[in-house]
Amino acid sequence: MWENEFSEIAKALKASEIRELLKLTQQPDIISFAGGLPNPKSFPVNIIGEIVNDLLENEGAKMLQYGSTEGVNSFRDALAERAVNVYGFKNVSRENVLILSGSQQGLYLLAKIFINPGDVVIIEAPTYIGILTAFQSYKPSYVEIEMDDYGMDTTLLEEKLKKLKAEGVKPKMIYTIPTFQNPAGVTMSLERRKHLMEIASEYDLLVVEDDPYGELRFSGEALPHLKALDTEDRVVYLGTFSKIMAPGFRLAYMIAPEEIIRKCVLAKQGIDLCTNTFGQYIAREFVRKGYLDKHIPTIIELYKEKRDIMLDSLDEHFPESVHWTRPDGGMFLWVTLPDKVDAEKMFPKAIEKKVAYVIGSAFYPKRDHKNTMRLNFTYPTNEQIKEGVKRLADVIRAEL
Ligand SMILES: Cc1ncc(COP(=O)(O)O)c(C=O)c1O
Repeated sequence: MWENEFSEIAKALKASEIRELLKLTQQPDIISFAGGLPNPKSFPVNIIGEIVNDLLENEGAKMLQYGSTEGVNSFRDALAERAVNVYGFKNVSRENVLILSGSQQGLYLLAKIFINPGDVVIIEAPTYIGILTAFQSYKPSYVEIEMDDYGMDTTLLEEKLKKLKAEGVKPKMIYTIPTFQNPAGVTMSLERRKHLMEIASEYDLLVVEDDPYGELRFSGEALPHLKALDTEDRVVYLGTFSKIMAPGFRLAYMIAPEEIIRKCVLAKQGIDLCTNTFGQYIAREFVRKGYLDKHIPTIIELYKEKRDIMLDSLDEHFPESVHWTRPDGGMFLWVTLPDKVDAEKMFPKAIEKKVAYVIGSAFYPKRDHKNTMRLNFTYPTNEQIKEGVKRLADVIRAEL
């Protein structure tokens, strides 16, 4: 009845087919590698209980009140301090930190303050579905940069930028998930991180470093964040509590140059006035009292085992012609099937065999690369991982 009254922006919003397909994966007897959920066993329920009781007794009124749009100052200070001491970011103080209702909100705010229709946004191919959703209403034009096992191919990036410059086009930003990328599970090498920052400097570009998984490293050597390599204040860093505490808090933060923070604050005021104060106080205590640093290794232990089981099962059961990434952390790995296999057409057959994945084409703006899929290893039980990979291998074999 109201369809005709919707704004042009609302009319352009479409439910993604992927969400429809994901509904199928929620049947109870299906082993799903499709979700993007942390394992509930990783939630620090008891610690949060203790913190909440303490806080209600000591700071109850403050944590139940509205807060400033920027976020609770003592929480911003705690995050700035951690960013300097643990991540090695330079010149970060409270003014550079904006508390967000999820990093998804950060992406939306960045689109709102930077993107005019047609502006070029550089993304990794494949990329996080949520950026495509967050940016949708602002109608950017995407330039996709392929990845390999070492993350975004920065040589290709440089070539693309050179070409764009010759055409008189200056992109608005480079969006990257350099560490344990969603969906591909790969990590950008140090060499490429440095190269990316050199290129950003040469072409005077903003870099958005989305980092929900960086703390969840199971193997390999820690690498510096792009923000830690940033000597020119051109990196916007997005961190979140979703994967290291609990996503139900909807709590994340942006670390950025002050003028970007100030503009995002204005944009955020129209959305939610402020991020939930209750959660900010809890997360502040979780960080300040050292619980976070003690909790992360327990998540890593849980997920590392699951990654190892999935990799072993893939090695054992998947056909030779199929390739997959071997993530050093995070929650996902990426499977590339032979060209002739269409993971979208195969999906109903997988559902019939009671196993599910996310169709890889969902992670590309043009919905191409049909022969790919994303597998999540953090949510299923260890037994489900073994059984699910076996079932999926049978489904793939039948296609070959
Ligand atoms: C790359 C990436 N960015 C952002 C988000 C959103 O996280 P949040 O829960 O902080 O909104 C996710 C969640 O899966 C993600 O994978």
